[in-house]
Amino acid sequence: MREFINGLSVFLEGNNSNKPIIFLHGFPYDHTMWHAQIEILKDKYFCVSYDIRGLGESPAGDGQFTMESFVDDLEIILNELKLIKPVICGLSMGGYITLRALERMQDKFSAAILCDTRSEADSNEGKLKRAAAIKRINKEGLAPFAKDFITNCFADSFIHNKKDELNKIIEHSSTFNPVGVKGCLLAMLSRTDTTQTLTEIKIPTLLVCGENDALTPPSVMKEMFHKIPDAEFVEIKNAGHMTPIENPDEVNKAILNFLSKLN
Ligand code: MLT
Repeated sequence: MREFINGLSVFLEGNNSNKPIIFLHGFPYDHTMWHAQIEILKDKYFCVSYDIRGLGESPAGDGQFTMESFVDDLEIILNELKLIKPVICGLSMGGYITLRALERMQDKFSAAILCDTRSEADSNEGKLKRAAAIKRINKEGLAPFAKDFITNCFADSFIHNKKDELNKIIEHSSTFNPVGVKGCLLAMLSRTDTTQTLTEIKIPTLLVCGENDALTPPSVMKEMFHKIPDAEFVEIKNAGHMTPIENPDEVNKAILNFLSKLN
């Protein structure tokens, strides 16, 4: 079922009397990236996913986004749906939102799942890459950027063996509003560094990372894992940055195992 909250497209699956899990997708994707997880979890959990402002079916508006405004959107969704202590699960950009949300309002969540993400802000080199991406989208349109960026997110084995699936994802993201995509680039470029507060995360946290993740490699996520007091780390075989799509069975296994230990 779809609902509009604060203009955003929010998708609800499962019984709302079950424990809630809220899913935050990566860039430049939308809620559909969690399909394989929600299919498995919806029988026992109330699964909430949404298209982050500017992506998928959520409006781009003026594209003036910040990580802070993304957390504001998340908070509005939590309040509107009256979600009590959901598990929060974010991948990459969704992880940046999750980490800032944990700084701002950790008490609203019962547990966190961080997939293929990092706590560090962009380096100067990273900021310049984002600026070059904006320039490229302005010059060439969204499709060439989407093709290159998305291809880089996946492991070579997926690129070679699942060409059709990859092309569908690229085609889908290429239909997004370029204003929204550029707004997300600016929000990521200007986000704060959340490394200092990892030690203050008191809720159970699962970290998941693809063994071949080129964007947020296991070495980066292991450093986060060592700083979060009650954390668990699972490396996903045969996957790059998009673990939930590339190896859904292993990701589902890790998530189900983690959830089974929560009270
Ligand atoms: C993502 O998957 O959300 C992006 O790779 C994040 C980023 O570009 O930093």
